[in-house]
Amino acid sequence: MPSPVHTFCFSSAGFIACSAIVLLCSSEVLSSWEEWWTYDGISGPSFWGLINPQWNMCNKGRRQSPIDVVPDKLLFDPYLRPLHIDKHKVSGTLHNTGQSLVFRVDKDTKQHVNISGGPLAYRYQFEEIYIHYGTENSRGSEHYIQGYSFPGEIQIYGFNKELYHNMSEAQHKSQGIVGLSLMVQIGETPNPELRIITSTFNKVLYRGFSTPIRHISVRSLLPNTDHYITYEGSTTHPGCWESTVWIIVNKPIYITKQELYQLRRLMQGSESTPKAPLGNNARPVQSLHHRTVRTNIDFKRNKNQNACPSMYKDMYYRANRWSPDTGLLIR
Ligand SMILES: *[C@@H]1O[C@H](CO)[C@@H](O)[C@H](O)[C@H]1NC(C)=O
Ligand SMILES: *[C@@H]1O[C@H](CO)[C@@H](O)[C@H](O)[C@H]1NC(C)=O
Repeated sequence: MPSPVHTFCFSSAGFIACSAIVLLCSSEVLSSWEEWWTYDGISGPSFWGLINPQWNMCNKGRRQSPIDVVPDKLLFDPYLRPLHIDKHKVSGTLHNTGQSLVFRVDKDTKQHVNISGGPLAYRYQFEEIYIHYGTENSRGSEHYIQGYSFPGEIQIYGFNKELYHNMSEAQHKSQGIVGLSLMVQIGETPNPELRIITSTFNKVLYRGFSTPIRHISVRSLLPNTDHYITYEGSTTHPGCWESTVWIIVNKPIYITKQELYQLRRLMQGSESTPKAPLGNNARPVQSLHHRTVRTNIDFKRNKNQNACPSMYKDMYYRANRWSPDTGLLIR
């Protein structure tokens, strides 16, 4: 059988780029196709929606992720509950996919880690962790806070176990996915659970390399806070499906300079053609398009931190009350 040759032409703001790729004629075709995307150049984020028609939300979607979180515009929601994540440990495999560093929980796991509560209407099953980071300290995270990018971001993904069978089914369906985002900052007191992952970085130097990770507690990766920021968005990798409830934990976790140095040695390519470093694997921030970003941080109650803006001026959930006398809404 001849190999099918696909030519893609992308046009964007005054330039047109064409590229031909030859897909192997085997059962590998689909997976090669799905893996053919990058964080820069003509297969980068601006073109994800054009590479594959099934990824058109990457270009057309209006509820996309990541976003820049602007603290002044957060809406305090007193009905947001604490988040629940099971404490017990699970095992899995860390993969260098050539685009990211991804941990996937073992398929035969007997007791899965449930994620529920918070803004979630359903119970989600923890499935994978994506690690995003920069090659310099000034960038790395996908979500920004007031225009600030952290050196890294750890994204814990789960799928809606009550409505769907698995991640691949759930990721493009309504309420399919939860994305729990941990900002990573450089510090001297590293997160011990993160160290279980960072100690394996030298085993995943090149694309296609993977290594088992035994007994890791997702709950223990989280910093010590109940505060979070939440909004509805998309997966930050193709196909950018708008199925994701994002929960950004309001405190970073810490990684040491040495661990970050190990991470920055990872490459996008194979051992023989390493190509560029794996870092800077962040999709640019996307427009909010009038979405609401909610928080359970009651800034007014935390009066001692008076640098924080009051949420009450923006608290439209409580702004209006029905008056039985006049039949009017009173402010
Ligand atoms: C997670 O949820 C499932 C389904 O309700 C339940 O069977 C399982 O025991 C839960 N896991 C834990 C650790 O509570
Ligand atoms: C996911 O679940 C769907 C629906 O049950 C099934 O058709 C599909 O084969 C499953 N995919 C994987 C990767 O297990």
